[in-house]
Amino acid sequence: MNRPKISVIGAGNVGASVAQFLAAKELGDVYLFDIVEGVPEGKALDMYEGNPHWGSDSHVAGFNTKDESAYSNLSGSDVVVVPAGLARKPGMSRDDLLAKNVDVIKGVGLNIKKYAPNAIIVVVTNPADIMAYAMQKVTGFSPEKIMGLGGALDSARFRAFLSMELGVSVQDINAFVIGGHGDDMVPFIRYSSVGGIPITKLLSKEKIDQIVNRTRMGGGEIVNFLKTGSAYYAPGISITAMVESIIQDKKRIIPSAAFLSGAHGKHYGASGIYIGLPIRIGSKGVEHVYDIDFTDEELSLWKKTVESVKENCNKVDAFLK
Ligand code: APR
Repeated sequence: MNRPKISVIGAGNVGASVAQFLAAKELGDVYLFDIVEGVPEGKALDMYEGNPHWGSDSHVAGFNTKDESAYSNLSGSDVVVVPAGLARKPGMSRDDLLAKNVDVIKGVGLNIKKYAPNAIIVVVTNPADIMAYAMQKVTGFSPEKIMGLGGALDSARFRAFLSMELGVSVQDINAFVIGGHGDDMVPFIRYSSVGGIPITKLLSKEKIDQIVNRTRMGGGEIVNFLKTGSAYYAPGISITAMVESIIQDKKRIIPSAAFLSGAHGKHYGASGIYIGLPIRIGSKGVEHVYDIDFTDEELSLWKKTVESVKENCNKVDAFLK
């Protein structure tokens, strides 16, 4: 069978989780890449050996990119997921981390451009909206072929917390989060509903504020538990949903970081950056970016998050010069 080919660059916690979910769902053959010797090969083989129990025939293989020629195995990839990067270490500023991860994206991006010029890229390395911007600059791919993880994960957390509070199925909760994938993300209350009923009719303002706050701090809450790492199960599942929508051309609407070109609305003047909004994801990548009407209060939150994303994109431009 001619299965889709999905490559995952960075076989750490997030990369390995997403690879495992993709293989379990038999969405395609999964190729895992990492700069650390033995890790991608070992994890891929381990996953492959479990496949008989899933009943999955996805081929899973790992490649070490210490020797850059290993990137030739990207060739023919339909989708490339990129969670390669460094975590912030004590004493490292946010800007130091940004510079280091831009460097990683540069190395990875040039190889994607060389070997998989037709791939759709899902950028996961944090800050993912800014790294999606860097990926576009490095590859020169048309911007709709690149998207960043953000809202898919944040809105899954938002829905999970609403479900916990209301005691209703997560399936019946529709809620999304927009803006940058950071502390100033905007969980969007006005369009959030449970079985079609606005959440403002079901929960007090105080409760909603608590849930919004917990959503914003969702990544940090996991880090506080884990101590030595950050979340990977919910990120892995969120990425899998995005990849599934690309591979199967499902045209799901999933909030994610997409390029604002002005083609799908004015977004209150924000353009030339990657930022989270509800987008339609299909085989061509980002097929539509939904433009949302804001109230004055929402608009001020939107402007704040746009400003912080812009500032970081300017830093990326300076690093890549
Ligand atoms: N090329 C290939 N792989 C790389 C490179 C590189 N240049 N640089 C780092 N890596 C690999 C590391 O060897 C490691 O295996 O990326 C992997 C990162 O994995 P973890 O440290 O386990 O981090 P993880 O929790 O998976 O998060 C990855 O996703 O959600 C974001 O903030 C998170 O930016 C981080 C990324």
